[in-house]
Amino acid sequence: MSRVGIFGAGWVGLVTGACFAELGHDVVVRDVVAEKVGALEAGRIPIHEPGLPELIEKNRERLGFTADAAEAAQDAEFLYVCVGTPSTYSGDADLSAVWSVLDDLPPLDGRPILVMKSTVPVGTGDKVRAALDARELDHVGYVANPEFLAEGTAVRDFMNADRVVIGAYEPEDGDRVEALHETLGAPVVRSDVASAEMIKLAANAFLATRISFINEIANVCELVGADVEEVARGVGLDHRLGPHFLRAGIGFGGSCFPKDASALKQLASNSGYHFQLLSAVIEVNELQKRRVIAKLQKHLGKLRDKRIALLGLSFKPNTDDMREAPSIVLASRLLAEGAEVRGWDPVASPGELMKGVAICESVLEAVRDADAAVIVTEWDELRDLPSPEVRDAMRNPLIVDGRNLLDPEVVEQLGFAYEGIGRVSSPFSGLPETPEPEQKPA
Ligand code: UGA
Repeated sequence: MSRVGIFGAGWVGLVTGACFAELGHDVVVRDVVAEKVGALEAGRIPIHEPGLPELIEKNRERLGFTADAAEAAQDAEFLYVCVGTPSTYSGDADLSAVWSVLDDLPPLDGRPILVMKSTVPVGTGDKVRAALDARELDHVGYVANPEFLAEGTAVRDFMNADRVVIGAYEPEDGDRVEALHETLGAPVVRSDVASAEMIKLAANAFLATRISFINEIANVCELVGADVEEVARGVGLDHRLGPHFLRAGIGFGGSCFPKDASALKQLASNSGYHFQLLSAVIEVNELQKRRVIAKLQKHLGKLRDKRIALLGLSFKPNTDDMREAPSIVLASRLLAEGAEVRGWDPVASPGELMKGVAICESVLEAVRDADAAVIVTEWDELRDLPSPEVRDAMRNPLIVDGRNLLDPEVVEQLGFAYEGIGRVSSPFSGLPETPEPEQKPA
């Protein structure tokens, strides 16, 4: 079994560390934020990730936390870089946290391997390799081993990986990283470092492309009277296409797709190539978030002083992550239209991100006297939204289902007006019928 130092106690670092400990390795996770380390030592997990607290607790013996880089690096055979690489103003990836890890490395003996788990632009390996050499760490190996963990299912994604991608300069370093994952029994893809870096960016860009594609199909479905759910099912059964990432909705968010799509677009353009398809994927996603406003206006007219409940605020269910959540864009657009906005989420606390939005403790509180309820994130708790209790609590029983979570027929039978994405919407708005004005005789 190996000794693994993990740099960064965010989503990727914590899940990777806990899973390596579960595989039997000795792990020390280091973070620069001392309070986070203190909380982890005390058994408090700073993120909402199903299965992670149990895994950390179960493997406490083999899993330590520290703020000290030297402690994490001590005797480590693998130094995993799991720090954030957010977007800069130019849309490129900000690698400053990666460089800080290098700055913090103590003198190292033997041949530890620096393993890049963070998502980085192609070419980063070459730069890090050169930086290691310049710091008299030329005896330290370098391997790109990107992560494919989705929030909410990250532990499962690690333990049942579709593949492990390993890009190495020295084949022996790649062999050692491969051996570290041996017990997973996952297919292993060996490549050069640049290709491993590109596999990660291309995978995320392709998934984002599928989402924007199905969202555009949904928008056309609305115009021609087709149902995108049926279309996606029919398309996804083609084994060449597959059923995944064909859920139409109000667009993708999160800490990965928006940032990585932009980073790949910038990487291409910095290299002299205009990545047209990816530019369209990003633009379609931006517009998709805003389509809800038009749907509300269609039923309610001007939104000034209308009370709108946003249900589900995190970027997707089973996480408290608010990064790039479509709810943020929606809330600020609604506030700009003069609407009164209420929000509810079972775990996320949006804080300043949703300034001006009244955050409610329960769905019922959020929908009380509302003119419309918008399902922004498909939390399981919202499957029961169409109920007589909710209908009676609302001023106007209109549900805008931004994730096609509900069955339109059931919703309408319960007396709600329904508007989904890429589906035929209710011909009525939920508002009480206003009598036709009497025609004056000519
Ligand atoms: C994504 C990838 O799925 C992971 O493989 C990758 O490792 C990770 O990014 C990363 O680069 O770290 P994540 O952002 O956690 O994971 O979440 P996803 O489940 O991929 O969802 C991303 C967004 O797409 C969400 O807003 C979700 O609502 C949206 N989505 C997803 C759709 O709108 N439609 C779909 O069919 C699927």
